[in-house]
Amino acid sequence: MIQKRSTPQVHIETFGCQMNESDSELVRSMLKGEGFTFTTDRERADVLLVNTCAIRENAHNKIYAHLSELKGLKKQRPLVVGVLGCMAQSLKSELAEKEPLIDVLAGPDAYRQLPVLLSNAMAAQEEGFSRKGFALDLSEYETYEGVLPDRDNGVNAWITVMRGCDNFCSFCVVPYTRGRERSRDPEAILAEARDAAARGFTQITLLGQNVNSYRHGGWDFAELIAAVADTEGILRVRFTSPHPKDFPTSLIDAIAAHPNICKHIHLPLQSGSDRILTLMDRTYSGEEYLALVNRIRHTIPDIILTTDIICGFCSETEEDFLSTQRIVEQARLDSAYIFKYSERKNTIAARKYSDDVPDQVKGSRVARLVDIQRRITLERHRQYIGKDLEILIEGDATRSSAQGMGKTDGNVTVVWDKGTDPFEPGTLITKHIYEASAATLYGK
Ligand code: SAH
Ligand code: SF4
Ligand code: F3S
Repeated sequence: MIQKRSTPQVHIETFGCQMNESDSELVRSMLKGEGFTFTTDRERADVLLVNTCAIRENAHNKIYAHLSELKGLKKQRPLVVGVLGCMAQSLKSELAEKEPLIDVLAGPDAYRQLPVLLSNAMAAQEEGFSRKGFALDLSEYETYEGVLPDRDNGVNAWITVMRGCDNFCSFCVVPYTRGRERSRDPEAILAEARDAAARGFTQITLLGQNVNSYRHGGWDFAELIAAVADTEGILRVRFTSPHPKDFPTSLIDAIAAHPNICKHIHLPLQSGSDRILTLMDRTYSGEEYLALVNRIRHTIPDIILTTDIICGFCSETEEDFLSTQRIVEQARLDSAYIFKYSERKNTIAARKYSDDVPDQVKGSRVARLVDIQRRITLERHRQYIGKDLEILIEGDATRSSAQGMGKTDGNVTVVWDKGTDPFEPGTLITKHIYEASAATLYGK
């Protein structure tokens, strides 16, 4: 055991994607194994951890704002502050050296070192000096095998199936913050699925930056998700994200064949202009994307498709943007996250191209596309009116505890008056949809 204060209390705050949520559960598990305890009350914590995201500039800004808040706290009492995750990895020395607030910096592949680094920092602080600890090596092998995540309570269990990304889309920082692609042992994943079911989770979401690249021994992702779906007690299996360039028919067939694999695919488009897609190194064209959408819909007619789109990538013209708009209108996807391009240091785009679309133009393209997609989303949601949908109950609605909230198979939020119906999060309930907005369905 490592030397430490009686039982140091840790508070962890997580920014960014589901992968970070999942990593925070690993961090919690490893620290608890070394005698640390966790608190949700920041005021009572001895150690403050922030798991960070680097995907866009506004993600950075949010975290900087958060860190400056922590500075205030650190003036009031002894505190050890650790910055984890993608921003820790991508800003390394810059963050560490000029920032007296930070005691420990650890990247996504270095969390096994956290207990030692935090203990050292705490011991030094008790002696009245500061000892910074950095663990920023990326690994080709680390998959945290043997670490069982300390899961957040709830309905859904995240299971990371692969780490890192080898795609190097030119705009994206992830290959630099999370390193090379590596897949976890399917037996370990299935054991985790069984463990999650035994603990009462009824939904599993498989995570990876590009799940289609999952390979381990003779297994591919289609085989893996089919095996996970066979876990007893699991009502729903979701996954994110696949890359459109290598979407295998076997995966479409596996989704179609298993009633408990949700009929929802998040399929990032990024752009509808072939010229921009080439500059992004996405390796498909707009037409190929549409053909994939049709291929999926042919096998699974009721599939829900969602996407990510970037507006204002380097050299994007009005004509390029209109190509994206055209694909969005033709594909009629169910919903989309639409982002302004944000240049990330060291990426291929930052090195090779100029971030030359004015911010205001980026913003207005985002707004135009959001308007179009909102109309399509609303039209699609209105098609549910008058239908009975099966909903996985998640908990109380945000507005009122008299209302329940849950998700359809296609991941659309539904809200209803609880009344005297049985209400147990994690179970399925059927509701008759009588009203729809672009964000929510209303059931009774
Ligand atoms: N691995 C996932 C994407 C993870 S990042 C995938 O390929 O599907 C989530 C989304 O953030 C991306 O799909 C992209 O639309 C957006 N994104 C990534 N880098 C960005 C950047 N530099 N500027 C703006 N948006 C970006
Ligand atoms: Fe980034 Fe592309 Fe990898 Fe997704 S597939 S994480 S967008 S490099
Ligand atoms: Fe952000 Fe890292 Fe996820 S950059 S989106 S937390 S992989």
